[in-house]
Amino acid sequence: MIMAYGKIEQKEKENTNYIDIKLNINHQKYQLKIRENSTLLDVLREKLNLTGTKYGCGTGACGACKVLINGEAKNSCVILAKKMENKKIVTIEGLADNNKLHPVQEAFVESGAIQCGFCTPGMVITTIAFLNKNPSPTREEITDALEGNLCRCTGYIKIIDAVQIAAKKLRREKIEL
Ligand code: FES
Ligand code: FES
Repeated sequence: MIMAYGKIEQKEKENTNYIDIKLNINHQKYQLKIRENSTLLDVLREKLNLTGTKYGCGTGACGACKVLINGEAKNSCVILAKKMENKKIVTIEGLADNNKLHPVQEAFVESGAIQCGFCTPGMVITTIAFLNKNPSPTREEITDALEGNLCRCTGYIKIIDAVQIAAKKLRREKIEL
């Protein structure tokens, strides 16, 4: 039997199960009703309007959707939100301290590592997780760490500069998320 697209969509909606979950995002607790198959990215962008986390590929290949989950940078487009209860999630919106940018964000601005800005939230998140583990990286180590984050504008040189500047700032300020 051939079904028109609108009817298939309707059918899918009817078949969707909704569940209640509790999430801890940017130091705030949320109680939400979500589709059982929602990704963490869906919930951030569509339910909570945290649109700083970007939708790029949707397949875990570009890093635009990275968030910190218990301090690790993860692609939120390939993680089911229902598995995120009892985890500490931090998005790009949760980094600034009372309108003062996080030192990694400052470093990206200072080094001119932002062009269209689409990749920047994911780059910043990856950088924070990386520098927490390796506070004094070489340029080669930075290149390796950013392997899962794609940028179509900058050519990466300024992004690597930004990570080095950020490392210096964090060593001075000893900030950890
Ligand atoms: S949107 Fe998640 S990795 Fe590309
Ligand atoms: S600044 Fe445009 S994709 Fe990186």
